[in-house]
Amino acid sequence: MLVDGFGRKVNYLRISVTERCNFRCQYCMPEKPFSWVPKENLLSFEDLFLFVKVAIDEGIDKIRITGGEPLLRYDLDKFIAMINKHKPGLDLALTTNGFLMKEYAQKLYDAGLKRANISLDSLKDSVAQQIAQKDVLKNVKEGIDEALHVGLKIKINMVPLKGINDVEVLDVLEYAKAKGISIRFIEYMENRFAKEKLQGLSAKEIESIVGTKYSFEEIGREGSSPAHMYRFEDGYKFGIIDPHNHDFCEDCNRIRLTAEGVLIPCLYFDEAMSIKEAVQKGDILEASLILKEVLKNKPEKNKWSNDDTNETSNRAFYETGG
Ligand code: 5AD
Ligand code: SF4
Repeated sequence: MLVDGFGRKVNYLRISVTERCNFRCQYCMPEKPFSWVPKENLLSFEDLFLFVKVAIDEGIDKIRITGGEPLLRYDLDKFIAMINKHKPGLDLALTTNGFLMKEYAQKLYDAGLKRANISLDSLKDSVAQQIAQKDVLKNVKEGIDEALHVGLKIKINMVPLKGINDVEVLDVLEYAKAKGISIRFIEYMENRFAKEKLQGLSAKEIESIVGTKYSFEEIGREGSSPAHMYRFEDGYKFGIIDPHNHDFCEDCNRIRLTAEGVLIPCLYFDEAMSIKEAVQKGDILEASLILKEVLKNKPEKNKWSNDDTNETSNRAFYETGG
C-alpha cells in the first residue's frame, strides 16, 4: 500500500500519454504559437508499462489515461490491453474529447477499457466550435453514441463559461440524461494558458440553473472523487466539481505521470521527479524508489488552494491531464 507523508492512501494513478491535442479549448490551451515536446522525448508504451507494473505492485488499483488527447497516441488500445492483461480487475478509465471515439471505441472496449469521460461543452455547432476552436460537435456526438453502443460506461464533462455556453447547462444535462449518462459540471479553473477574461459559472450558479427546472438533493461525494453529487427525484445523478470552494486535498488519493515520464505528486506543485531514466534502463527498484520519494513530497494542500487569490496555475492542464 502506498501512503504519503500525511497518511493519505494513494491508489490512483493518472497517466497523460501525450500533451498534444486536436482541440484548442479556450480554457485549456493557447491558440498559437505552440511548440510541442518532440515526440522522441515521450516514453514508449513499453517504458510506461514498466512503471505501471511497479505502481500496481505498490498498491495502485485505479488508472486513468489522459492527455492532451490520449487517442492521438497511436495504438493506445495496445497500451490499455497491456495493463488489462497484467491486472484484469483494475479500474481502468480514459478521459477524452471524444473526437476520435467513433473509430476507437470498439478497439478500446476489446482491450479492456471500462469507462470513459468525454467532454461536451455545447450542443450547438457554432458554440462547440468557438470553445474548441475547431468544428467538433458532430464527431463528438457520434463518438459518445459509439462508446455507449460498444458497452463503455460514459460520463460527460462540461465547463460552463459565462456568455459562451452558460445558457446550455440544462440542454447538455438533458442530452446526457436522455442517454442514461451522468454529467459533471466543472468550474472553470483559471490558468495562464487559457484565453484571457474567461469566466466560469460557479457551483452555486450551476445549481440554481438546474433548480429552475428540477428538484434534487445533494448527496455528497462518492469516494475520493472531487465531484459533489446531486440526485433528481427520478434517481438520475449529476455532479459539480467546484475547486474554488473545495480543495479536495484532505483525501486526495492520486499521483500523475506525464508523457515524458515526470511523476507529479500534486497538480499545483512544483516538486516532481522523472522516472524516465529508470524505466529506460529497466530499473524496477529505482522506479519504485522514485515513486516513494515523490509520495513523500506530496504536499498537504495544493498551491492553488493555499493562495487566497486563487491565482492561476503554471502547470498546463494539457500536460498533466487535469
Ligand atoms: N478548468 C476546468 N476544467 C478544465 N478541463 C480542462 N481545462 C480546464 C480548466 N481550465 C477539463 C475539460 C475536460 C477535462 C479533461 O478537464 O473539460 O473534460
Ligand atoms: Fe484538448 Fe482537453 Fe485541453 Fe480541450 S481541454 S484542448 S480537448 S486537452
